[in-house]
Amino acid sequence: MVRLCLVVRHSASYKYISGPDHSQHFISFYSKNSIAVYKNGFPMEYRSWFYCIEGCGETYPLNEIIYRCRACGGLLDVAHDMDSLRVRGAAGWMRLFDERYRRTEYPYGSSVWGKKEWVCPAVDDQHVVSIYEGGSNLFWAERLGEELGLGDLWVKQCGNNHTGSFKDLGMTVLVSMVNQMIEEGQDIRGIACASTGDTSASLAAYCASAGIPAIVFLPRDKVSVTQLIQPISHGALTLSLDTDFDGCMEIVQQVAESEGIYLANSMNSLRLEGQKTIGIEICQQFDWEVPDLIIIPGGNLGNVSALGKGFLMMEELGLIDKRPRIVCAQAARANPLYQSYLKGFDEYEPIHAESTVASAIQIGNPVSYKRAVRVLKAFDGKVEQATEDEIANASARGDLTGLYNCPHTGVALAALFKMVEQGEIRSTDRVIIISTANGLKFTDFKVGYHEDRLDGVNVRHGQSPLELPARYDDVVRAIDRVLS
Ligand SMILES: Cc1ncc(COP(=O)(O)O)c(C=O)c1O
Ligand SMILES: [Zn+2]
Repeated sequence: MVRLCLVVRHSASYKYISGPDHSQHFISFYSKNSIAVYKNGFPMEYRSWFYCIEGCGETYPLNEIIYRCRACGGLLDVAHDMDSLRVRGAAGWMRLFDERYRRTEYPYGSSVWGKKEWVCPAVDDQHVVSIYEGGSNLFWAERLGEELGLGDLWVKQCGNNHTGSFKDLGMTVLVSMVNQMIEEGQDIRGIACASTGDTSASLAAYCASAGIPAIVFLPRDKVSVTQLIQPISHGALTLSLDTDFDGCMEIVQQVAESEGIYLANSMNSLRLEGQKTIGIEICQQFDWEVPDLIIIPGGNLGNVSALGKGFLMMEELGLIDKRPRIVCAQAARANPLYQSYLKGFDEYEPIHAESTVASAIQIGNPVSYKRAVRVLKAFDGKVEQATEDEIANASARGDLTGLYNCPHTGVALAALFKMVEQGEIRSTDRVIIISTANGLKFTDFKVGYHEDRLDGVNVRHGQSPLELPARYDDVVRAIDRVLS
């Protein structure tokens, strides 16, 4: 028998959950006069909306074209009706997520949409634009761990997503929402983003899949050839501007103020809702156990913010009862968060980011700075930095143990090596490195390293092919030399 019941909530109420430092880092609140309809004991509808992260109380529907609070200019985040989500219970959610994980029922086999109720319940299944996001491998870095004296070291291979980076996890949510808005009759002519490479590749792929025009703004000569050819192949209008990422960002924001162009940058928190599934998925892959330490590279700082949000949501809904330590790793040539961390986050100055091999995080004015600081304060956080030499050598060392990692993963690995050296990690700690992109997108970096052509890098793990005459004896001698 199907039982229906109605629950009407009258007043708006706000709840703050304190972290260990008593900071108010996460807000969940119930919307005014919301109506919850239950079927067989579960809500039939889950609700979510934008709210201003400055706490001024403004809220907006997710299908409104808005990126900042109209009252105070603050960034917006997505809030969920946590009361409705609580009804299923922690065990119920774990079971449901596990049942859907990597199965075939569209769109729930995607590890993002398999958690749809927590991510973006407002999108109808028929409007979802999914390319089977998430479900990426957790690489057990057994040999690298042995070298470091760590028995439980893992690399979360987010570069195994469709376009080769973690950006797909968020882009599927944003493009799905816009797809629905277009179906609802909103006047949206296209979606635009500024990018250090991976965001445009992802936006272009999802737009091509949905048949929505994409416009991408890239800093000329600051993205890899592989990243540049991705949006071009997908037919996106690809604008290569003579500036850096921060310069592209300024222009795309102006363009998005004009009619009909929707902004896809991570100031738009719909993307962060998808990216927050990284942390949820990691716990799921460990049968809902929480790791001790996670190291993640940071540029615009959306991903570290999203990672924390996923953990806080699991904690609030009772799926986990402890938090991992979160370390954000930056390139020393693009380190505004690190500079601020050294001052206890009391001061913050945007910087001019210098050119770095970790080109996707060459960002001097990260849009999610405030979000990231909140997360780091709530997760016993730390910020590390790595020089060009440390990044390139860390990445190459990882490859020699079976990874094929991008320079941004190299930043996180370099931070790991430093923390091990400083005795900050116990040998039994479960440590996760977030690998953000696939090494195949950074062939120019890899070739530059192994041919010893990178500025400021003293190559310690260089490899090169042996050129030999096509004679059996020479070949056998060469093999013997290496294997003996
Ligand atoms: C490969 C890669 N790693 C790391 C990052 C940093 O992520 P975020 O900008 O959210 O800090 C980006 C994004 O710009 C990226 O493309
Ligand atoms: Zn506000």
